[in-house]
Amino acid sequence: MAIILPDLPYAYDALEPYIDAETMHLHHDKHHQAYVNNANAALEKHPEIGEDLEALLADVESIPADIRQALINNGGGHLNHALFWELMTPEKTAPSAELAAAIDATFGSFEEFQAAFTVAATTRFGSGWAWLVVNKEGKLEVTSTANQDTPISEGKKPILGLDVWEHAYYVKYRNVRPDYIKAFFSVINWNKVDELYAAAK
Ligand SMILES: [Fe+2]
Repeated sequence: MAIILPDLPYAYDALEPYIDAETMHLHHDKHHQAYVNNANAALEKHPEIGEDLEALLADVESIPADIRQALINNGGGHLNHALFWELMTPEKTAPSAELAAAIDATFGSFEEFQAAFTVAATTRFGSGWAWLVVNKEGKLEVTSTANQDTPISEGKKPILGLDVWEHAYYVKYRNVRPDYIKAFFSVINWNKVDELYAAAK
């Protein structure tokens, strides 16, 4: 067994004009494939630890030291991207009444949630991710991580994530990350976010 690159759940051009097909090809076929290959290369050195990346990254100290950073980077890269593809859709979706109520209770309104998420995504310096998570207290929280670090390693359950590495937006949006963040909100798969929220809380 080895980790395999999952197919996109839609066509490469399905998210146009918000996310362009060229970006999706590079991002999925090249970047995500590289995380998969590198994660497998690390895991092959320690077959005794298995391949459950979520469990391994939930307890990074349990990962053998010689492959720990490689798995944080590439195992995290695989998990984050596999989730990211599912968090987008060309279909129009909206948060469930339950999730919408939780967002209102936590942030004040959907607009204030979007503003907080946008700040997290805009101000993450360099490469990383912005997240909506369910934290250890079972509450919604907006956060961000560097590189391919997953919130799972902080005991948080990601229910929405946005890749803000330049590879995620530079082909279409060049240096204008805020336009890419705004576009993302047009393609969020709220059905998937609802499903993750229900499982996480
Ligand atoms: Fe990426």
